Amino acid sequence: MTILVTGAAGFIGFHTAQALLDRGEQVVGVDNLNPYYDVALKQGRLDRLTGRDAFRFAKVDLADREAVAGLFAEHADVESIVHLAAQPGVRYSLENPFAYVEANVTGHLTILEEARKCADLRHLVYASSSSVYGDSAALPFSTADRADRPVSLYAASKRMDELMSHAYAHLYGLPSTGLRFFTVYGPWGRPDMAVYSFAEAILEGSPIRVFNQGTLQRDFTYVDDIVAGILGAIGHVPKASDGAAPHRIYNLGNNRPETVSRLVAVLEDAIGKPAIIRHEPMQAGDVTATCADIEDSRRDLGFNPSTSLEQGIQRFVDWLRDYQGT
Ligand SMILES: NC(=O)c1ccc[n+]([C@@H]2O[C@H](COP(=O)([O-])OP(=O)(O)OC[C@H]3O[C@@H](n4cnc5c(N)ncnc54)[C@H](O)[C@@H]3O)[C@@H](O)[C@H]2O)c1
Repeated sequence: MTILVTGAAGFIGFHTAQALLDRGEQVVGVDNLNPYYDVALKQGRLDRLTGRDAFRFAKVDLADREAVAGLFAEHADVESIVHLAAQPGVRYSLENPFAYVEANVTGHLTILEEARKCADLRHLVYASSSSVYGDSAALPFSTADRADRPVSLYAASKRMDELMSHAYAHLYGLPSTGLRFFTVYGPWGRPDMAVYSFAEAILEGSPIRVFNQGTLQRDFTYVDDIVAGILGAIGHVPKASDGAAPHRIYNLGNNRPETVSRLVAVLEDAIGKPAIIRHEPMQAGDVTATCADIEDSRRDLGFNPSTSLEQGIQRFVDWLRDYQGT
């Protein structure tokens, strides 16, 4: 079966494409390789995919409707779409809000428009985010909770994706599943995220910025666990039932929140060097804690995150050392 993976040069898209190729699928990867962070890292991921026979790549911007229509015309045999391309990052959405509307709103709508016209399409699986819960005090976050008080434009754009997908599932019977990821980390990760930027700083002996005395909690989730959840979701196609559209939303998180202070301690252990910590107040758009309720994802998707923070961080640090050495 041919699966279209958007954001294939990105962190989660790369790992997802690899896992699908390992499973014997034909994969069409799409990415615009934008310079939000080091393009060499995106290209490095892509080089590992383009070496494989069953992988084809198209450099396309999802906000470019004509280019996306051309892509779908060329790959009319697509059976599933895993749509992961987006402008991520909470803090950058204060600096460049329009990037979020272009990539996350227009880009998502472009995918929905093409997906609804795709004759053989069985399922659209797309990335949402734990940030849609806002700064909710009720932990763990359940998909039954309200998600209408976003505290960043990034979160608002991800919630918009969910709402648009629901409308398309209702209007056109387009089966789709939204996955709310919780702070994903691992090899080939994102340099703008704390795990990566802290590790780089500790290795080179420069200070790290720790907000709110390190008390913020995140449900850090290892990328292989996330990818297993994505693969589980592809196979679990939602059906219209009792008047409900064929659209479902699941949390993919570790269900074991950790403080940022503990993350720093685990990184120090894995690297074998103390961090130089600069304390700063909490940032606009940040939330105090995240934790995923994963009962539904366990039941329906077979999602079973099993990587401890120590194991995952050790694998990440080993990769980073190797990557920096090459
Ligand atoms: N990493 C996390 O912790 C996390 C948490 C919650 C949600 N998510 C979501 O998961 C998805 C994947 O995130 P990631 O961490 O791999 O990010 P990433 O930035 O590494 O990957 C996204 C990729 O999409 C590409 N892209 C962006 N805009 C595009 C456009 N208009 N057209 C084509 N390609 C475009 C980028 O070049 C990038 O390679 C995103 O939707 C993100 O919002 C990630």
